[in-house]
Amino acid sequence: MSRADLCFDDTGRGEPLVLLHAFPLDGRMWLAQKDELAGSVRVIVPDLRGFGRSAELAAAHSIDEYADDVAALLDTLGIDRATIVGLSMGGYIALALARLHPRRLSRLGLADTRSLPDNVEGRAGRDQNIALVKSEGVAPLVERMLPKLLGPGASAEMVTRVRSMGNSQKPAAIIAALAAMRDRPDSTPLLSGLNIPAIVIVGEADPISPPEEARAMGALLPRAEVEVIPGAGHLANLEAPAAFSEALRRLLARG
Ligand code: MLT
Repeated sequence: MSRADLCFDDTGRGEPLVLLHAFPLDGRMWLAQKDELAGSVRVIVPDLRGFGRSAELAAAHSIDEYADDVAALLDTLGIDRATIVGLSMGGYIALALARLHPRRLSRLGLADTRSLPDNVEGRAGRDQNIALVKSEGVAPLVERMLPKLLGPGASAEMVTRVRSMGNSQKPAAIIAALAAMRDRPDSTPLLSGLNIPAIVIVGEADPISPPEEARAMGALLPRAEVEVIPGAGHLANLEAPAAFSEALRRLLARG
């Protein structure tokens, strides 16, 4: 099938760093990292298929298709290899990219994400969320998710920002991504073969992808550091931007 024509930001010069956003958000969630890192590397931030400014080309797709979209974006930009960092759903996609297009990754950053697939309960929850969005739209899903996305210390301004970014997404994109996440495979068997510099970052209070799972992924990746960010929840890059960017700087410094 034809690849989605992703909208993206491309800022700075030098080594390419691709930042893949979480669900139900878009590339705007990486604003602080773009500002902090574009002075030293080239920061590429796509809106994944259907999200943000990017168009929805096909009704149904898998996590692998989002990964193929990212590989196609690298082709368009003439980039052979890049440091790929994904947060949560972005991490599922980064892992799919590592499986499908391994030579495109020079380094890997997995943030607040999981290599494990959804369990039976998780899959049923996705179906409930799909039904909710179909019947009532995106806003009730965002309200349902907010307490899990942000930790108790998040400011009211941050809650408003995440709510508004979530509410601006198109229902079709949300439904497609929920189905893709529900059906994603177990990426755990892949980890021990990813012999590239890697970092696993997690907010200390992340209830969706908790620190013990991050540590387990870090133990399987041959060249990973694990960074647990104190006080942060699931969207650790938004809640602790300086610590998160510093962790990415350390990854980028590794050869
Ligand atoms: C995300 O932050 O991308 C989602 O919470 C991931 C998920 O629902 O599995």
